[in-house]
Amino acid sequence: MTGRVRCAVFPVAGLGTRFLPATKTVPKEMLPVVDRPLIQYAVDEAIEAGCDTLVFVTNRYKHAVADYFDKAYELEQKLEKAGKFEALADIRDVLPRQVRAVFVTQTEALGLGHAVLCARPVVGDQPFAVLLPDDLIWNRGAGATRQLVELAEREGAGVVAVQDVPIEQTRSYGIVATRDFTGRHGEISAIVEKPKPEEAPSTLAVVGRYVLPPRIFDLLEATRAGTGGEIQLTDAIAALLSGGRMLAYRFEGRRFDCGSRMGLIEATLQYALEDDALAEPTRTLMRAALSATR
Ligand code: G1P
Repeated sequence: MTGRVRCAVFPVAGLGTRFLPATKTVPKEMLPVVDRPLIQYAVDEAIEAGCDTLVFVTNRYKHAVADYFDKAYELEQKLEKAGKFEALADIRDVLPRQVRAVFVTQTEALGLGHAVLCARPVVGDQPFAVLLPDDLIWNRGAGATRQLVELAEREGAGVVAVQDVPIEQTRSYGIVATRDFTGRHGEISAIVEKPKPEEAPSTLAVVGRYVLPPRIFDLLEATRAGTGGEIQLTDAIAALLSGGRMLAYRFEGRRFDCGSRMGLIEATLQYALEDDALAEPTRTLMRAALSATR
């Protein structure tokens, strides 16, 4: 795999059933952690990694994501008139000028692999990143995507982010088997989507960050529906292994599964505790809440 990673793909067409009724009208990627929607965290991470083309794979119900990255003329005018310049900067800075956003519609919900394939006309023949916004990754140093991109460009190989999970959770993740694991990465020898614990090749689970070679698109075209009747990205990655090297990378940082209620609560507390203005009041509030419920 050669070339710089400039494109980041955000599959945002999922239903978000775990957050109903909120997600009846608000896409799950627009759920906030403190004061920013999940999608903004993922976008910032991709931009920090050097991406300048962001491809959002949406469905017809997800106008909110496109609206969010669009210019909000009326709101900008109001804030300007009111002299609320900080708030004005906040809404103007959702995307830096040099970054372009492209929206692609996934007309049928055929799975993550199919969503990634929908980005093909924009990505073309270059390596690219995939970020699943409901996996929120916090790190004090370089963001997870930047870590993956640096490894991918150094090793000339595709990279998948992984973390260790308890054995009973393998059925919720793509699971990899690796060889020659040194430091934080190893070569993937096998990858399976959501295996039962007794069939899992390891407890190393795929987290929603990938750097993939463009060859994945041909393999996705040829991928039939797998687990859950969906076209799985994991199956196309498994097919990649026969012709190329893919690495599993234990990223530095803390991942919050914001596709689950507990994950979103945990992330909110973490980000509040990391915020200069919110840390102390949050601590006080947590202490009070804990002693009141004891
Ligand atoms: C997807 C992938 C899975 C991966 C997971 C990470 O599953 O298919 O391989 O481990 O994201 O969050 P989903 O959670 O969308 O069912």
